[in-house]
Amino acid sequence: MAKKLSPPEVMRNLAIGYWVARLVHIAAKLKLADLLKKGPRTVEDLATAAGIQPQALYRILRALASVGVFAETKNQRFKLTPLAATLQTGIPASMHAWALMINDNWGWDAWKELLHGAKTGEIPFLKAHGVPLFEYFEKHTEDLQVFGESMTSISVTENPAIAAAYKFSGISTLVDVGGGHGSLLATILKTNPTLKGVLYDQPSVIARAEKDQHVTAKGIVERCRLESGNFFEAVPKGGDAYIMKYILHDWNDEACVKLLSNCRASMNEKGKVLVVDNVIAPGNNPSWGKLLDIQMLIIGGRERTKKEFAAMFAEAGLKLTRVVPTKGPLSIVEGVRA
Ligand SMILES: C[S@@+](CC[C@H](N)C(=O)[O-])C[C@H]1O[C@@H](n2cnc3c(N)ncnc32)[C@H](O)[C@@H]1O
Repeated sequence: MAKKLSPPEVMRNLAIGYWVARLVHIAAKLKLADLLKKGPRTVEDLATAAGIQPQALYRILRALASVGVFAETKNQRFKLTPLAATLQTGIPASMHAWALMINDNWGWDAWKELLHGAKTGEIPFLKAHGVPLFEYFEKHTEDLQVFGESMTSISVTENPAIAAAYKFSGISTLVDVGGGHGSLLATILKTNPTLKGVLYDQPSVIARAEKDQHVTAKGIVERCRLESGNFFEAVPKGGDAYIMKYILHDWNDEACVKLLSNCRASMNEKGKVLVVDNVIAPGNNPSWGKLLDIQMLIIGGRERTKKEFAAMFAEAGLKLTRVVPTKGPLSIVEGVRA
């Protein structure tokens, strides 16, 4: 049985969390999992394929193997483990894009400003990069692509849980506001064969969605329209429901009220808004939402409690009707015209 660690030992390990995170990032960057998908290989062989020094690679792989990512078989030969396998590209539920995006240098530069932001109220990302996140992406299209793919990668387990948790049968047209590459909308349309969908996002993202496999799949493409624009100006008209996943958490309350008001103005008479986000519960339990909230603090957004959602809904002329939990970490916060 593993020895129970003392509090200083646990704290030592917590404090080096970024070492492991950075190693996982390097493994993703070098596509080491892809290089091992046909079976074990020697470090020499891997180093040549990855264009990296063999001794450094050996130490990187040995450290990763100590936390279950890759395993050494014999004579400096490494193989995939179930954890390492998630870093392969092009597989269902791949975590490659997430591992690549979440520890990329642009994110690190913003995290360096977290304490400054906490002291001054400045948005750390703005201090680091001079522009808000989504403006930054307009000039860094490669980062935007990896960001889009990383959202799809963390959505693989979340989307089926969302589609299963909510009864979409009473809805005829569903608008996915800030729907990214369309993986959520495609999942919901697949499980609701008569539902029509509108995927709405910024022009550069919609251009990418048109080439991606989600809303272009047979059986989906016929029922799905793609529209681009700025959701702070307007959202497509005539929807019965406006779903927004991981959208409100990117923004401050004022911006969210504007966006919710735009949905209210465009939706059909009995229309609904469906906000899909973490709903923060009280208590000290481990929580994906409470940690993701710090990433949001860095870009100027926040995760919210039910009460905080209700207050923003009220300001936008909406009434929070219920919170529908999903089997994943996210909940669906439903609202109608007040
Ligand atoms: C965190 S991602 C969420 C994507 C998707 N809903 C998901 O869960 O995978 C936020 C999305 O909002 C879009 N977005 C940001 N600002 C926007 C704006 N002003 N108008 C339209 N879309 C915007 C981004 O392009 C991005 O696709």
